[in-house]
Amino acid sequence: MIDRPRRNRVSPGVREFVAETRLTPHNLVLPAFVQEGNQVRLEVGSMPGVFRLSPDELIKELRVAHGLGIRGTALFPVIDDALKDPYGKESLNPDGLLQRTIRLIKSEIPDMIVITDVALDPYSSDGHDGLLKDGEILNDETLPLLAGMAVEQARAGADIVAPSDMMDGRVLAIREALDEENFINVGICSYCLKYASYFYGPFRDALDSAPRGGDKKTYQMDVRNQREALREIQLDEAEGADWLLVKPGLPFLDMIRMARENSELPIAAYHVSGEYAMLKAASEKGWLDYDQCLLESLMCMRRAGADILFTYGAIDAARLLQ
Ligand code: PBG
Repeated sequence: MIDRPRRNRVSPGVREFVAETRLTPHNLVLPAFVQEGNQVRLEVGSMPGVFRLSPDELIKELRVAHGLGIRGTALFPVIDDALKDPYGKESLNPDGLLQRTIRLIKSEIPDMIVITDVALDPYSSDGHDGLLKDGEILNDETLPLLAGMAVEQARAGADIVAPSDMMDGRVLAIREALDEENFINVGICSYCLKYASYFYGPFRDALDSAPRGGDKKTYQMDVRNQREALREIQLDEAEGADWLLVKPGLPFLDMIRMARENSELPIAAYHVSGEYAMLKAASEKGWLDYDQCLLESLMCMRRAGADILFTYGAIDAARLLQ
């Protein structure tokens, strides 16, 4: 036998030399749920180990993350029902929960990259990402709301705004609004390939943001489709996106690969709430090794072509990588 592929697997040292994919804490973004209050840590029932944190507690968590080499956080605010309306007006409040939290992070940990979610759902009394009228999501009427939200986030200090709403034309609307206010260095991470997935369930528990009626299938992508992604990639690039994000992560490795092969932009992948919940639930039963399966999931998304990984297990993974 001349060919013996096992020779390249013979020892840890050899395996390190021939490893084709690397995972470091610098690849990781920690998504976080922020809620009003002081010293509040409320565990999300369907996401053991993940908490709704008041801003002061979030700072503690981010200091730990920062110490482990994590340089990015993606913020999602838990908004009081009394502040929700069909237009998500609270998202424009300069002293709203999210804006105050951004300012606090930038003053306490200035080099933590703050990524903010642009979509109506946390603020909307309808629980949809766009404006709902007579059972329909109004695309063009939603755009100025999203653009205004992104500008307020930038004003508070966000480094990167991340539209996750899937309205057509939103990247351009946001880019123009940011530039008009001179936020030319605030980047846009577009949720470019965001599928209508049932893996978002635990996230909607965490934010209490599930649609009050209907589903999100008229705007999020159909899980059966692949070719359609090329069109989304082309549009987001043309509209000025800086990063392209694929979501969910592990069930959509083919789409991460497709984005990688069809764009020069950095590709991000979101290991979503349901993916995290599955690992936690199976490991609580003693059926899976959470640590190793987490690292393997992240490595596989890197191998498929993702540069940046959003994961609720970011701190766990960074610790394991030490
Ligand atoms: C909504 C949004 C969702 C997630 C991020 N932004 C949920 C949805 O579209 O309903 C999901 C993230 C996760 O499941 O971890 N704009």
